[in-house]
Amino acid sequence: MVTFMTTTGSENTVNRELEKLRRECQVKECCSDPLTKVEGLAYLVLIRPDIEKAAKFFVDYGLLLDIRTEKRIYLRGVSAEHHLIIIEKGPQALTTIGLKASEGDVQRLAHHYDQTIQAHPTQMGGQYVSLKDPDGLVVEVNCNLSTLLPIDKVPCESNWNTGDEKTRKNESVRNVISPVTVRKLGHSLHSVANIKKTVHWYQDTFGFIVSDFQFLPGDENPIVVFMRVDRGEVPTDHHTLGFGITPELGHIHSAFEMDTFEEVAVAGHWMSKRASEMQYKHGWGIGRHILGSQVFDYWRDPYGDLFEHYADGDLFNREKNTGYHLFNGSAQHQWGPDMTAEFKGLNRPWNTFKSVLRRIPSNDDLSIRRLAKMIKAI
Ligand SMILES: [Fe+2]
Repeated sequence: MVTFMTTTGSENTVNRELEKLRRECQVKECCSDPLTKVEGLAYLVLIRPDIEKAAKFFVDYGLLLDIRTEKRIYLRGVSAEHHLIIIEKGPQALTTIGLKASEGDVQRLAHHYDQTIQAHPTQMGGQYVSLKDPDGLVVEVNCNLSTLLPIDKVPCESNWNTGDEKTRKNESVRNVISPVTVRKLGHSLHSVANIKKTVHWYQDTFGFIVSDFQFLPGDENPIVVFMRVDRGEVPTDHHTLGFGITPELGHIHSAFEMDTFEEVAVAGHWMSKRASEMQYKHGWGIGRHILGSQVFDYWRDPYGDLFEHYADGDLFNREKNTGYHLFNGSAQHQWGPDMTAEFKGLNRPWNTFKSVLRRIPSNDDLSIRRLAKMIKAI
C-alpha cells in the first residue's frame, strides 16, 4: 500500500498520475539485504580558507565552539554527541559526511571495501572507515565516538498560555535575542549526477529507506529523494540524507534541530541582526515543510553554503510506507512565504549557467528536457 499526498489539481487525476509514477519508478524504496544499517548522521567536514570567519557563522547559528587548533575547529550542540561541524583550513568545499554505526558494521564495511579502520584524533575518539559515494563525497562511518558532557540549555520560551489552558500566571515572556544553541545535526541534502545510482548505493551499503520521492511530471526517475535510517520499530527522523537533481552539483543544505518553533524564530531574528555585518543571507522561512513537516528557516553562510534551523519534524519507523509526490514550487511548504530566489539558487546565475554548460554533454541526470521541466515546475 502506498501513501499519496498532493495539494494541487483534481485528486483523482493526480492520484492516477502518482500511481503511474510508483509503478514506473526506476529507483527502489529500500534494499532487502543491505550490507550494514547505520544509526544516523554524526558530523560534516567543511573546508574553508578562513576557518575563524567560517566558525563565526556557526557560533551565530547556535553551535558552540569547543576545540580550536591551528588548522581545525570543532563545534558542538547541547547534547552529549561528539562534534557536529568540523572546519578545516583549505580551498572551500564540503568534503565529508560522518555517519554513526556499530563496531561490527564498521568492520563489515572495512572488510567489504578492503579499507583499513582508522582512529580519530584523541578529542573525538572512536574509529572509522572512509568510503567514497558515487559522486565522490567522502563518507566516514564511525563507531565508539567520544561523548561530551551534555550542556543544560535554558529554554527559549516559557509556558504557553493557550485559549483554554493558562499555565503562565504573574509572569511575562521576555526572549533574549542571542544565538539559540542547536540540539543536533539532523540531515544533509546533496545534488548528484545520477540519482538512481547514488540512492541505490546508500540503500545497499547503509540500509537507508526512502521516506518520500518527488517527481517532475512524466519522469521515471525522481528529482528529490528523502531517506531515513532503518532502526526497525524505533522511529527516526523523516530524513537523515536527501538527494536531488539541481543545476549545480554538491551540497544543497544541512540542517540543525531546535527544540521549539519560538527557538527557530528567535535564532532567525539574531541572524537577521548579524546579517549585513557578517555577510549572511536569509534563504527562506519561516514556514512549515510538507514532506517531513518541519518548521524551517534557512540561512546562507559567508561562503554561500545553505543551512537550516528546524523544529517539530516527523519521525517514521520501518512500518511507514514510502510516499510518491509531484515536485513543484508549492509542494515544499504548507505555509510561510513563497520559496525565494536565494533558496532556489537563482541569485547565482553565472555559476548555474557554467554548471549546466559543463553537465549537459556529460549525459547525466540533468538533460535539457529535465531542466525545462524544472524551471516550469518552480
Ligand atoms: Fe532540510
